[in-house]
Amino acid sequence: MPAIPALRDYLKTRRSVGMGFLAEPGPTPAELDEILTIGTRVPDHGKFAPWRLVVFAGDARAAAGERLAAIQHSRNPALDEASLNNERRQFLPAPVTIGVIYSPKPNPKAPEIEQILSAGNVCFNLSHAAFALGFAANWTTRWYAFDPEAQAVLGARPGERFVGFIHIGTPTAVIEDRPRPALSEIVSYWPG
Ligand SMILES: Cc1cc2nc3c(=O)[nH]c(=O)nc-3n(C[C@H](O)[C@H](O)[C@H](O)COP(=O)(O)O)c2cc1C
Repeated sequence: MPAIPALRDYLKTRRSVGMGFLAEPGPTPAELDEILTIGTRVPDHGKFAPWRLVVFAGDARAAAGERLAAIQHSRNPALDEASLNNERRQFLPAPVTIGVIYSPKPNPKAPEIEQILSAGNVCFNLSHAAFALGFAANWTTRWYAFDPEAQAVLGARPGERFVGFIHIGTPTAVIEDRPRPALSEIVSYWPG
Protein backbone atom coordinates (compact mmCIF):
# COMPACT_ATOMS: atom_id res chain seq x y z
CA MET A 1 0.00 0.00 0.00
CA PRO A 2 1.58 3.33 -0.98
CA ALA A 3 2.30 5.89 1.75
CA ILE A 4 0.16 9.04 1.74
CA PRO A 5 2.48 11.82 2.97
CA ALA A 6 -0.22 14.51 2.90
CA LEU A 7 -2.47 12.34 5.06
CA ARG A 8 0.37 11.70 7.50
CA ASP A 9 1.14 15.43 7.73
CA TYR A 10 -2.54 16.20 8.29
CA LEU A 11 -2.86 13.59 11.05
CA LYS A 12 0.27 14.89 12.78
CA THR A 13 -0.97 18.48 12.89
CA ARG A 14 -4.76 18.21 13.00
CA ARG A 15 -6.46 20.20 15.70
CA SER A 16 -9.97 21.38 16.28
CA VAL A 17 -11.12 24.92 15.63
CA GLY A 18 -13.55 26.12 18.31
CA MET A 19 -17.10 26.60 17.09
CA GLY A 20 -16.90 30.35 17.72
CA PHE A 21 -14.20 30.55 15.06
CA LEU A 22 -16.14 28.71 12.36
CA ALA A 23 -17.69 30.98 9.75
CA GLU A 24 -19.08 31.04 6.23
CA PRO A 25 -18.48 29.69 3.72
CA GLY A 26 -19.62 26.28 4.79
CA PRO A 27 -19.84 23.19 2.62
CA THR A 28 -22.08 23.25 -0.44
CA PRO A 29 -24.84 20.62 -0.50
CA ALA A 30 -22.59 18.39 -2.65
CA GLU A 31 -19.67 18.88 -0.27
CA LEU A 32 -21.89 18.15 2.70
CA ASP A 33 -23.01 14.91 1.05
CA GLU A 34 -19.36 14.00 0.60
CA ILE A 35 -18.60 14.80 4.24
CA LEU A 36 -21.55 12.65 5.34
CA THR A 37 -20.45 9.81 3.05
CA ILE A 38 -16.86 9.86 4.31
CA GLY A 39 -17.98 10.39 7.89
CA THR A 40 -20.09 7.25 7.97
CA ARG A 41 -17.38 5.04 6.48
CA VAL A 42 -16.30 3.73 9.86
CA PRO A 43 -15.52 0.45 11.59
CA ASP A 44 -18.82 -1.08 12.67
CA HIS A 45 -18.75 -4.53 14.27
CA GLY A 46 -21.73 -6.47 12.93
CA LYS A 47 -22.52 -3.86 10.28
CA PHE A 48 -25.50 -2.61 12.29
CA ALA A 49 -24.91 1.12 11.60
CA PRO A 50 -25.80 1.97 15.22
CA TRP A 51 -25.93 5.67 14.49
CA ARG A 52 -27.99 8.30 12.71
CA LEU A 53 -27.14 11.84 11.72
CA VAL A 54 -29.14 15.05 11.99
CA VAL A 55 -27.99 18.10 10.01
CA PHE A 56 -28.53 21.61 11.35
CA ALA A 57 -28.05 24.10 8.52
CA GLY A 58 -29.43 27.44 7.40
CA ASP A 59 -32.43 28.71 9.37
CA ALA A 60 -32.68 25.41 11.28
CA ARG A 61 -29.66 26.47 13.36
CA ALA A 62 -31.43 29.45 14.89
CA ALA A 63 -34.68 27.48 15.19
CA ALA A 64 -32.90 24.74 17.15
CA GLY A 65 -31.27 27.32 19.38
CA GLU A 66 -34.66 28.90 20.02
CA ARG A 67 -36.01 25.52 21.15
CA LEU A 68 -33.04 25.04 23.51
CA ALA A 69 -33.56 28.53 24.92
CA ALA A 70 -37.25 27.72 25.46
CA ILE A 71 -36.35 24.58 27.42
CA GLN A 72 -34.00 26.51 29.68
CA HIS A 73 -36.51 29.33 30.08
CA SER A 74 -39.28 26.92 31.06
CA ARG A 75 -37.03 25.50 33.77
CA ASN A 76 -35.82 28.86 34.97
CA PRO A 77 -38.16 31.74 34.09
CA ALA A 78 -35.73 34.18 35.73
CA LEU A 79 -32.98 33.35 33.24
CA ASP A 80 -31.43 36.57 31.95
CA GLU A 81 -31.49 37.62 28.31
CA ALA A 82 -27.72 37.08 27.84
CA SER A 83 -28.03 33.45 28.92
CA LEU A 84 -31.04 32.95 26.66
CA ASN A 85 -29.11 34.44 23.76
CA ASN A 86 -26.25 32.02 24.44
CA GLU A 87 -28.73 29.19 24.09
CA ARG A 88 -30.15 30.68 20.90
CA ARG A 89 -26.64 30.66 19.44
CA GLN A 90 -25.76 27.05 20.31
CA PHE A 91 -25.59 26.23 16.55
CA LEU A 92 -24.17 29.57 15.45
CA PRO A 93 -22.01 30.89 13.87
CA ALA A 94 -20.89 27.58 12.33
CA PRO A 95 -22.51 27.21 8.87
CA VAL A 96 -23.43 23.61 9.52
CA THR A 97 -23.55 21.22 12.46
CA ILE A 98 -24.01 17.48 12.20
CA GLY A 99 -25.53 15.83 15.24
CA VAL A 100 -24.45 12.22 15.67
CA ILE A 101 -27.01 10.01 17.37
CA TYR A 102 -26.09 6.68 18.93
CA SER A 103 -28.92 4.39 17.84
CA PRO A 104 -28.38 1.04 19.54
CA LYS A 105 -29.09 -2.18 17.68
CA PRO A 106 -29.10 -4.72 20.53
CA ASN A 107 -27.26 -7.81 19.35
CA PRO A 108 -24.81 -10.11 21.16
CA LYS A 109 -22.39 -9.83 18.26
CA ALA A 110 -21.61 -6.21 19.06
CA PRO A 111 -21.99 -5.24 22.72
CA GLU A 112 -23.11 -1.74 23.58
CA ILE A 113 -19.64 -0.34 24.04
CA GLU A 114 -18.63 -1.39 20.55
CA GLN A 115 -21.69 0.28 19.06
CA ILE A 116 -21.01 3.48 21.02
CA LEU A 117 -17.41 3.42 19.85
CA SER A 118 -18.60 3.09 16.27
CA ALA A 119 -20.77 6.19 16.77
CA GLY A 120 -17.73 7.99 18.19
CA ASN A 121 -15.83 6.99 15.07
CA VAL A 122 -18.51 8.70 12.99
CA CYS A 123 -17.99 11.89 14.98
CA PHE A 124 -14.25 11.97 14.41
CA ASN A 125 -14.48 10.82 10.81
CA LEU A 126 -16.92 13.62 10.04
CA SER A 127 -14.33 16.00 11.42
CA HIS A 128 -11.59 14.45 9.24
CA ALA A 129 -13.89 14.68 6.22
CA ALA A 130 -14.50 18.37 6.89
CA PHE A 131 -10.76 19.07 7.02
CA ALA A 132 -10.20 16.96 3.90
CA LEU A 133 -12.57 19.23 1.99
CA GLY A 134 -10.84 22.39 3.22
CA PHE A 135 -13.00 23.26 6.21
CA ALA A 136 -12.38 23.13 9.93
CA ALA A 137 -14.43 21.34 12.56
CA ASN A 138 -15.05 20.85 16.24
CA TRP A 139 -16.78 18.10 18.22
CA THR A 140 -18.86 19.17 21.17
CA THR A 141 -21.56 17.70 23.33
CA ARG A 142 -22.74 20.41 25.77
CA TRP A 143 -25.75 20.12 28.08
CA TYR A 144 -28.25 19.27 25.38
CA ALA A 145 -26.41 16.05 24.51
CA PHE A 146 -27.21 14.77 28.01
CA ASP A 147 -30.68 16.20 28.51
CA PRO A 148 -33.51 13.85 27.42
CA GLU A 149 -35.96 16.64 26.59
CA ALA A 150 -33.41 18.56 24.53
CA GLN A 151 -32.24 15.41 22.80
CA ALA A 152 -35.80 14.61 21.75
CA VAL A 153 -36.31 18.15 20.46
CA LEU A 154 -33.09 17.86 18.42
CA GLY A 155 -34.09 14.57 16.85
CA ALA A 156 -33.25 11.63 19.12
CA ARG A 157 -35.90 8.91 19.36
CA PRO A 158 -36.65 6.87 22.50
CA GLY A 159 -33.62 4.72 23.34
CA GLU A 160 -31.24 6.89 21.34
CA ARG A 161 -28.84 9.59 22.44
CA PHE A 162 -26.54 12.17 20.90
CA VAL A 163 -22.83 11.42 21.20
CA GLY A 164 -21.61 14.55 19.48
CA PHE A 165 -22.28 17.63 17.44
CA ILE A 166 -19.73 18.28 14.71
CA HIS A 167 -19.60 21.95 13.85
CA ILE A 168 -18.11 22.71 10.44
CA GLY A 169 -17.04 25.91 8.73
CA THR A 170 -14.20 28.08 7.51
CA PRO A 171 -11.79 29.04 10.29
CA THR A 172 -11.54 32.74 11.16
CA ALA A 173 -8.48 32.31 13.36
CA VAL A 174 -5.35 30.21 13.54
CA ILE A 175 -5.75 28.08 16.62
CA GLU A 176 -2.72 27.33 18.81
CA ASP A 177 -2.14 23.66 19.34
CA ARG A 178 -2.58 22.28 22.82
CA PRO A 179 -0.11 20.09 24.72
CA ARG A 180 -0.32 16.46 23.64
CA PRO A 181 0.34 13.56 26.01
CA ALA A 182 3.89 12.22 25.90
CA LEU A 183 4.07 8.67 24.61
CA SER A 184 6.16 7.79 27.67
CA GLU A 185 3.12 8.57 29.85
CA ILE A 186 0.56 6.60 27.92
CA VAL A 187 2.35 3.73 26.19
CA SER A 188 3.86 0.63 27.72
CA TYR A 189 5.14 -2.51 26.12
CA TRP A 190 3.78 -5.74 27.52
CA PRO A 191 4.96 -7.39 29.73
CA GLY A 192 5.77 -4.73 32.38
C1 LIG B 1 -16.99 13.44 23.25
C2 LIG B 1 -16.42 14.84 23.28
C3 LIG B 1 -17.22 15.87 23.71
C4 LIG B 1 -16.74 17.18 23.75
N1 LIG B 1 -17.57 18.18 24.15
C5 LIG B 1 -17.11 19.45 24.21
C6 LIG B 1 -17.97 20.50 24.61
O1 LIG B 1 -19.14 20.29 24.89
N2 LIG B 1 -17.45 21.75 24.66
C7 LIG B 1 -16.16 21.99 24.33
O2 LIG B 1 -15.73 23.16 24.39
N3 LIG B 1 -15.33 21.03 23.93
C8 LIG B 1 -15.78 19.76 23.85
N4 LIG B 1 -14.94 18.74 23.45
C9 LIG B 1 -13.55 19.03 23.15
C10 LIG B 1 -13.40 19.63 21.77
O3 LIG B 1 -13.69 18.68 20.78
C11 LIG B 1 -11.98 20.14 21.72
O4 LIG B 1 -11.96 21.28 20.96
C12 LIG B 1 -11.02 19.14 21.19
O5 LIG B 1 -10.96 18.02 22.05
C13 LIG B 1 -9.63 19.75 21.03
O6 LIG B 1 -8.73 18.73 20.70
P1 LIG B 1 -8.14 18.55 19.22
O7 LIG B 1 -7.56 19.87 18.82
O8 LIG B 1 -7.15 17.46 19.34
O9 LIG B 1 -9.29 18.15 18.34
C14 LIG B 1 -15.41 17.44 23.37
C15 LIG B 1 -14.60 16.38 22.93
C16 LIG B 1 -15.10 15.10 22.88
C17 LIG B 1 -14.21 13.98 22.40
